[in-house]
Amino acid sequence: MSAGVADAASGLEPELERIAAEVDALFSELLVVPADPREQLYAAMRYAAIGGGKRLRPLLVVAAASLFHVDRQRALRVGVAVEAIHVYSLIHDDLPSMDDDELRHGKPTVHRAFDESTAILAGDSLHALAFELLADGLTHEDPFVRCELIAELACAAGPAGMAGGQMMDLGASRAGLDLAAVTRLQQLKTGALIGFCLEAGAIMGRVPPEGRTSLRGYARDVGLAFQIADDLLDVEGEEAKTGKKVGKDHEKGKETFVSLLGPERARQQAALLVDQAIDHLKPYGEEADLLRAIARFAIERDY
Ligand code: IPE
Ligand code: IPE
Ligand code: MG
Ligand code: MG
Ligand code: MG
Repeated sequence: MSAGVADAASGLEPELERIAAEVDALFSELLVVPADPREQLYAAMRYAAIGGGKRLRPLLVVAAASLFHVDRQRALRVGVAVEAIHVYSLIHDDLPSMDDDELRHGKPTVHRAFDESTAILAGDSLHALAFELLADGLTHEDPFVRCELIAELACAAGPAGMAGGQMMDLGASRAGLDLAAVTRLQQLKTGALIGFCLEAGAIMGRVPPEGRTSLRGYARDVGLAFQIADDLLDVEGEEAKTGKKVGKDHEKGKETFVSLLGPERARQQAALLVDQAIDHLKPYGEEADLLRAIARFAIERDY
């Protein structure tokens, strides 16, 4: 295994900065505010999509696509598509009828900065933007590849993926969930979009489904570890670093790995999952070092 693995999370900063700048630039180009009554909608989309977030999902797409020598600009468009879905999911997640949060990325949530109707429509519009991007010939020259990307993202975002997980996450349906049920919930809520990122790299690289097993294993383990880290940050994190209110899961009575196992065992479980994720990358050499570093970062982060 390459030398970079032990301290894999270090050295990721330049990659995080690079992808953040690229994602901001593309969103900025795509979301030009018109001088008409839709101005507020575009302004809210920009407010949510530009200048915040770790951009982990676009980085995963670019890292996976690079294994198969996919052009970075094309991979970036797919990364921005999944980020658009992610940002929309956060806008809706923060709504009063969902988590009722007032802070995101260190600033007021969209429904606080604008209003609830605008927040709902900004989420809807980012959802639409994701598919518009994937359907565009600039994203990939082969319409079959574009169709596969669209079908995969639709599945990952819908009731069999993120939205389904969000449904399971709602307070009423959460009481008394056990570890297996929480795992399933997290796999849908967070794991599905992360799974798409790896799958997308393979789709763009025209890797047949039977060649995607190790990347799927990596995605499953990183997705779950990433959500455990999010739940740990809700208990142990600092608002000044996470940019969102902490202590919300407990306040809302949400079962998580942390509420069920306690922070120490939850942390061990997350570390185990990251080791497993890195193990899945054995078929790859140095070219997968970025994916290895991202896996470490998923749990070592403090934001
Ligand atoms: C937060 O996701 C919500 C989850 C699905 C865990 P991120 O931690 O990736 O959010 P940002 O985009 O970096 O703020
Ligand atoms: C949200 O999970 C997952 C989504 C699909 C948006 P959380 O509710 O735990 O995310 P945060 O903690 O508000 O970012
Ligand atoms: Mg939530
Ligand atoms: Mg939330
Ligand atoms: Mg959370």
